[in-house]
Amino acid sequence: MSDDLEILRQDVLSELAGATDLRAWDAVRVGTLGKSGRLTGLLKALGKMQPDERKARGVALNRLRDELTQAVEARGKELEAAALQARLIAEKLDVTVPPPAEVAGYIHPISRTIEEMTAIFGVMGFQVAEGPDIETDWHNFSALNTPDHHPARTDHDTFYLPPSPGLDVTRVLRTQTSGVQIRTMLGQKPPIRIIAPGRTYRADHDATHSPMFHQCEGLVVGQGITLGHLKGCLIEFLRAFFGKPSLPVRFRSSYFPFTEPSLEVDIGWSRKTGEIGGGEDWLEVLGAGMVHARVLANCGLDPCVWQGFAFGMGVERLAMLKNGIPDLRSFYESDIRWLRHYGADPLAPALLHEGV
Ligand code: PHE
Repeated sequence: MSDDLEILRQDVLSELAGATDLRAWDAVRVGTLGKSGRLTGLLKALGKMQPDERKARGVALNRLRDELTQAVEARGKELEAAALQARLIAEKLDVTVPPPAEVAGYIHPISRTIEEMTAIFGVMGFQVAEGPDIETDWHNFSALNTPDHHPARTDHDTFYLPPSPGLDVTRVLRTQTSGVQIRTMLGQKPPIRIIAPGRTYRADHDATHSPMFHQCEGLVVGQGITLGHLKGCLIEFLRAFFGKPSLPVRFRSSYFPFTEPSLEVDIGWSRKTGEIGGGEDWLEVLGAGMVHARVLANCGLDPCVWQGFAFGMGVERLAMLKNGIPDLRSFYESDIRWLRHYGADPLAPALLHEGV
């Protein structure tokens, strides 16, 4: 290598070693390999040389370019790693330090209630299942034994989506989480034990109805499942959820297209004081029933082999009753004062299942 190239090589290598941050490193990189860098200048000058002179010099220059390119890249990586390390040390976050009270956030009562439901049913062996908010009317109605002209369809004040070209299914915003029963039975073999908390939609708006609200569905499918299991499971849940081990629970016969027999479940309360568990009155809290044989068959399960029960409850409704929240609309107003009052401490775990 000729002297001038060797000098350039030494210079660049020592400049790189002296560059202690990415800025300085970039200056060396641009000054050497950039458009008007030193090495680039020498490469350009090759063009003006005599052919035999150019050949020897060209080989040496290319070799030097390769060596310096590698050295630049290696140093860049070193400095990047050092910069990351410095940031990791400087920005270290201790997540165990409690936030100051005035900036602490709160868990919204809907999220909290779903956490509590999940904790209680989790102890009973239930898993959480999900389904889409935009559902086909087959999953939302037909497969649930609610044929086209069934009155239950109109009861629901359904939001229909406009037809979509090339798509020959009717789509709705799901009016209930019961479609997740269908998806689960189609997607996995029994035994099944799931809850499906999620958003649901109906065209209704007043102090006790919102066009978007939350339900929590439950489904158990197995062999030898009876109404006794349904009752035991829901009594246990309601007592744990309201924290009242002797909460009175009553089952009334009712009607849903996808269960037979169908039940409405009431808890004891006092109309006068609003106290849950006390007084002479009853309050309806959820719907339930044994999974209809036709629903099992629609999902490819032989009703002579498999039985099951299902239930569905309104998350807002249960949250309102438990926390004494008077107006459903306040859930969605994002009023920080309301959230401070009704929200839950994010650091407190949902420990209700200890009561099960
Ligand atoms: N899907 C029913 C409703 O929205 C509730 C329900 C679920 C009833 C499961 C029985 C079984 O009213």
